[in-house]
Amino acid sequence: MDFQVNKLKHVAIIMDGNGRWAQNRAHRRVWGHVRGSSVVSNIVEKADDMGVKALTLYAFSTENWGRPPSEIRTLFLLLKKFLIKERNKVLKNNIKFNIIGDISKLPKDTVKIIDDLKRDSKDNTGLKLTFAFGYGGRAEIISAVNKLIAEDIEVTEESISNALHAPELGDVDLMIRTGGDQRISNFLLWQIAYGELYFTETMWPNFTCTEFEKIIMEVEKRERRFGQVTETESLAATKTQVKNNFRLIN
Ligand code: IPE
Ligand code: IPE
Ligand code: MG
Repeated sequence: MDFQVNKLKHVAIIMDGNGRWAQNRAHRRVWGHVRGSSVVSNIVEKADDMGVKALTLYAFSTENWGRPPSEIRTLFLLLKKFLIKERNKVLKNNIKFNIIGDISKLPKDTVKIIDDLKRDSKDNTGLKLTFAFGYGGRAEIISAVNKLIAEDIEVTEESISNALHAPELGDVDLMIRTGGDQRISNFLLWQIAYGELYFTETMWPNFTCTEFEKIIMEVEKRERRFGQVTETESLAATKTQVKNNFRLIN
């Protein structure tokens, strides 16, 4: 039986380290993407088995347009292959598939595969699986605010949240980044306001279900305070603190 999540309903992953993984093995970067893409399916399955409600995967950022065309083409192709291969599994496992980001520059046939899977899985009630592709957190916030301005809606935290690309996903509870770097790289900026962060040195092609489960178990134990303190906590004090305070007063 897999560990079952309690607090961590929306998990987001920055799948980083493919290029370095390949280069460390004297291969070209694209080989890392090929190997990395084969990890995705296992992690999706594991998240579903652990009862995660939403899994959002960062696959291509707005900034990644600055990579060489051949690498970009490989990433497009791998997305297409993934969707073709996983389509039946998504539908069979009641997974609701979505993509956030600008996919207008993807080849037409890939856009069709995406649209078909989105349409065919839209009523599914299980795991919400979302790929962030051509995605940027700042662009998402700008688009939300522009939507509100165009519809003459007051800009509030709630109205911005509701105008994001996929409002039904809600805030991120846990963001994991593989590959050893400790930064957010423009991912889900609005949604991580109170998200737990976890950085692992593991390069994405080496990331396993076992490590994923371990991270989830560890972060489930963290106390999430959301900036608040309860009345009881505020009154509680250790013996030493009481003694020190007594000394200060007298
Ligand atoms: C993450 O791996 C995948 C994408 C950004 C598309 P990288 O390609 O960034 O690999 P590293 O970080 O250079 O090793
Ligand atoms: C973040 O990784 C984007 C994805 C994993 C898709 P990058 O490799 O692009 O980020 P930086 O350049 O290290 O910030
Ligand atoms: Mg990287």
